[in-house]
Amino acid sequence: MNQPLVILGSSRSEGNTRLLVETIFKDTAFDIIDLNEYNIHYYTYDNRHTDDDFLQLAERMIRYDTIIFATPVYWYAMSAILKTFFDRITDLLTIRKDLGRALKGKMMYLISCGSDDDLPEGFTVPFEASATYLNMQYGGSIHAWVEHGEIPVEVEDRINVFKKSVIINDK
Ligand SMILES: Cc1cc2nc3c(=O)[nH]c(=O)nc-3n(C[C@H](O)[C@H](O)[C@H](O)COP(=O)(O)O)c2cc1C
Repeated sequence: MNQPLVILGSSRSEGNTRLLVETIFKDTAFDIIDLNEYNIHYYTYDNRHTDDDFLQLAERMIRYDTIIFATPVYWYAMSAILKTFFDRITDLLTIRKDLGRALKGKMMYLISCGSDDDLPEGFTVPFEASATYLNMQYGGSIHAWVEHGEIPVEVEDRINVFKKSVIINDK
């Protein structure tokens, strides 16, 4: 599918990260998976959690050419719910290699939302390195924050730059 898929990993479905995502894509069609609405178990080495929602989400994810992970900054890192999703991608290298292989060539982007402009050093590394490992292309990231329930004006320029990079690469 041409329109981007946003995988939202915030602990609140209508929180700041969601607001940032909706501001970025306010004129653009996109689909969203809110991980809060699904039951995703921690990774286990015996891959025993085939009956939770992860594999059906992975099947949905591979239908898109552009996959955007959106996460708040929680304790200097991605949210636990998104990290759990990432850990489970290991299942796509073991019991569902077909799905893992299907990620090849897809674009990956990152949207992060913190309490200010300071993105912790190394925050983007798990995304960039995972994209490389999965033979995906890392298209870049945007970091922003919300003040009094609104996206600050100073973030608008970077939103426009990010939006263009996603849409151009999505063609
Ligand atoms: C558990 C927790 C940990 C947080 N840790 C950080 C942090 O390390 N750095 C930061 O800039 N903001 C931190 N924040 C603030 C959030 O990143 C910020 O409020 C963000 O906009 C929340 O997005 P959300 O509404 O989607 O959860 C933290 C918030 C929570 C709830």
